[in-house]
Amino acid sequence: MRLHILGSAAGGGFPQWNCRCPVCTLAWEGDPRVRRRTQTSVAVSVDGERWALVNCAPEILSQIQAVPALHPKGARRHSPISAVLLTNADIDHVAGLLSLRESQPFVLNATAAIHGVLAANSAFDVLAPDYVERRTVGLETTFELLPGLKASIFPVPGKIALYLESGEIRAHGEVATAVEGEQTVGVELSDGIARILFIPGCARMTDELRARIEGADAVLFDGTVWRDDEMVLAGVGTKTGKRMGHMAMSGPEGSIAALSGINVRRKIYVHINNTNPALVEGTPERLAAQAAGWEVAEDGMEIRP
Ligand code: MLT
Ligand code: MN
Ligand code: ZN
Repeated sequence: MRLHILGSAAGGGFPQWNCRCPVCTLAWEGDPRVRRRTQTSVAVSVDGERWALVNCAPEILSQIQAVPALHPKGARRHSPISAVLLTNADIDHVAGLLSLRESQPFVLNATAAIHGVLAANSAFDVLAPDYVERRTVGLETTFELLPGLKASIFPVPGKIALYLESGEIRAHGEVATAVEGEQTVGVELSDGIARILFIPGCARMTDELRARIEGADAVLFDGTVWRDDEMVLAGVGTKTGKRMGHMAMSGPEGSIAALSGINVRRKIYVHINNTNPALVEGTPERLAAQAAGWEVAEDGMEIRP
């Protein structure tokens, strides 16, 4: 299996277009300790010829342009990308679909709930049914994402997409932020040799989730914030990580603690928010994550387990 990290930032990218938080400011000023990042999508393949995208960031066109394996080959109209799989309906994971509209066949895999969100938004009708097959995938069922590449999706604590929150607040008075269901899922990828887990959004660790990650060759995990109140501290908002459906890296309930001592060859943070000081080489936060065995993903990273 080969996996390309096409983008590694959380919603907003890094630096975010309208942000002068301390970390974004370093990026705007060209500080060599930081690298720009696009929003999180990955591409995965077994044979290097057929590829699947997991999530489809708003920057998908430049992400494809940056990776020669994803360029069209041979015919006048061709793409090595034959499948897309979605882990939720967040803008940073689905907006790129609107740019894959040029009458190119592929299979769009997602849960019924995520397909429901897309179906309710007619902008996604640019993915004409003659070309794009919307395939509903059940939780905990293994399917062939590509020939020779098995995938299964499993529920991960999370919430509905931000743009659906006002409807949920009208209906229920508040937004549930750690629901396990079809709205937010993780993906397990296996080619019979290696096993990689991709979990870009996770509100909290559960025993089941930890057990599932145990023994994997690599886990790509939610690295949105270093600490829960980071955006408040940075002066860019009032929301905590928890409120956004993301567990922090640090702290007693954080992912570093939750996955310490686990038998996984590579632990890699993806979906990293622009306020996260672990984006900056040499900070105490980055060093602490590295000392705990974590890598901080960059765009262009390739994983060959
Ligand atoms: C998230 O991961 O919490 C969302 O991408 C937030 C957003 O839509 O900006
Ligand atoms: Mn996001
Ligand atoms: Zn910022």
